[in-house]
Amino acid sequence: MIPVITIDGPSGSGKGTISRLVAEQLGWNMLDSGAIYRVLGLAAERAGISAQQISGLTALASNLDLSFQAEKVLLANEDVSHLIRTEAAGNAASKVAVIPQVRTALLGWQRAYAKDPGLVADGRDMGTVVFPDAKIKVFLTASAEVRALRRYKQLKEKGLNANLVSLVAEIQERDERDQNRSVAPLKAPVAALEIESTSLSIDEVLKSVLDRVEKTYPELDISMPR
Ligand code: DC
Repeated sequence: MIPVITIDGPSGSGKGTISRLVAEQLGWNMLDSGAIYRVLGLAAERAGISAQQISGLTALASNLDLSFQAEKVLLANEDVSHLIRTEAAGNAASKVAVIPQVRTALLGWQRAYAKDPGLVADGRDMGTVVFPDAKIKVFLTASAEVRALRRYKQLKEKGLNANLVSLVAEIQERDERDQNRSVAPLKAPVAALEIESTSLSIDEVLKSVLDRVEKTYPELDISMPR
């Protein structure tokens, strides 16, 4: 069986950064499942399909012409990497993600990413639904205020406008929707390694994940970051 590490958590918890670093350290593949929902949100908006049009959205999800190329996310060969990273795209993603048929349509697609030598899967339901047999499940959290502040700094670094108060409100609204939907809600998987990262550095979080990897897969040669 292909080894899988799932890293779930709310938006801004740092799971994208940690997933990428773990995948790099191990030389494993990586799945950014949030990008799939983000691209679907964008494709729906472009096609004029609203979050209420379930059959249209499900058909769109089943035929989504999405591919990852190194750091780039492509929709029908167009580089949409930047377009899908806005707060509006995150909210659109969260809205299409509540639809059970859409989630089912994307299951096989996501599971196909489990390829040799292993996979690090980042999302909301990686450990609970998509890869329930993963041997290592991480659940990463941080307070809404710290997550909003991280996001604020990222946006400012990119020279974009940002308002901290509205970012906190948007993050809380998205958490609420992601945690309370009926299918695959955001929650810690059973037996997950739960890491509350509010006052931890990226290196500290990375180290605790890699410690767990070392214990679970002693045969792997992992050079720990200092
Ligand atoms: O991780 P992210 O912020 O890129 O995710 C964007 C939205 O997509 C998130 O608010 C909810 C949805 N999502 C999901 O429902 N399931 C996943 N596995 C990943 C993301």
